[in-house]
Amino acid sequence: MSKFINIAIDGPAGAGKSTIAKAIAKKKKYIYLDTGAMYRSFALYLLKNGFDLSQKDSAEYLQAMVDKYLDSFELDVAYDENGQRVIVNGEDYTGSIRTPDVTAVSSTVASVPALRLKLVELQRIIASKNNVVMDGRDIGTYVLKDATVKIFLTATAEERAKRRYDELVASGSDVSYDKIYADMVERDRFDSSRAMAPLKCADDAVKVDSTDMSLEEVIDYILNITEAKI
Ligand code: DC
Repeated sequence: MSKFINIAIDGPAGAGKSTIAKAIAKKKKYIYLDTGAMYRSFALYLLKNGFDLSQKDSAEYLQAMVDKYLDSFELDVAYDENGQRVIVNGEDYTGSIRTPDVTAVSSTVASVPALRLKLVELQRIIASKNNVVMDGRDIGTYVLKDATVKIFLTATAEERAKRRYDELVASGSDVSYDKIYADMVERDRFDSSRAMAPLKCADDAVKVDSTDMSLEEVIDYILNITEAKI
């Protein structure tokens, strides 16, 4: 067990994990590790190397691409005043990992065990050396089974899609609520049904349904749980 405090926050897409994890990390002066950004970085690395999007649903194609590119993928997770940065083979990918293509490829490629093993190793090293708030899909069930605090953050799919839609509209994007909703439901279905370390609530996690809660309420609730444990 790590001698550092490890807080695991898992849940489906758009539940608010990263906003909440970041706020808790800031309050506690822990580091925040966004593990989704790590899967996204590999997805972007594949796309930069000619990944064929029309084959993204082929397990054979995904496996072949992971086999071909995993060894040369060197990921550094760094921190500056803006938070976490992801650097791949010396190139800063941070600003480019949130596009729809990267999102779609990150979910499909994350089903390949060899990629998961490589990223989980790095996640565990970081958690063994730091107080950390880590968010993802499998942190409480697989990556940090002994985490000090485990939270499974949810909200209804409608509410999650609405939040994502409002965010995108506020940033000037022309998006369709129905498409956001459909993509989100499909991604959760895929992330929950993969064989290795699927999205799932750990038996010993505290389930938090944020549908009718404000951000501050969720943050306070998780901070209280954390204080009670440390
Ligand atoms: O949290 P996110 O939307 O940035 O994650 C992108 C994808 O990465 C998600 O659809 C599934 C995958 N992922 C994962 O499999 N395990 C994690 N711990 C984090 C993300």
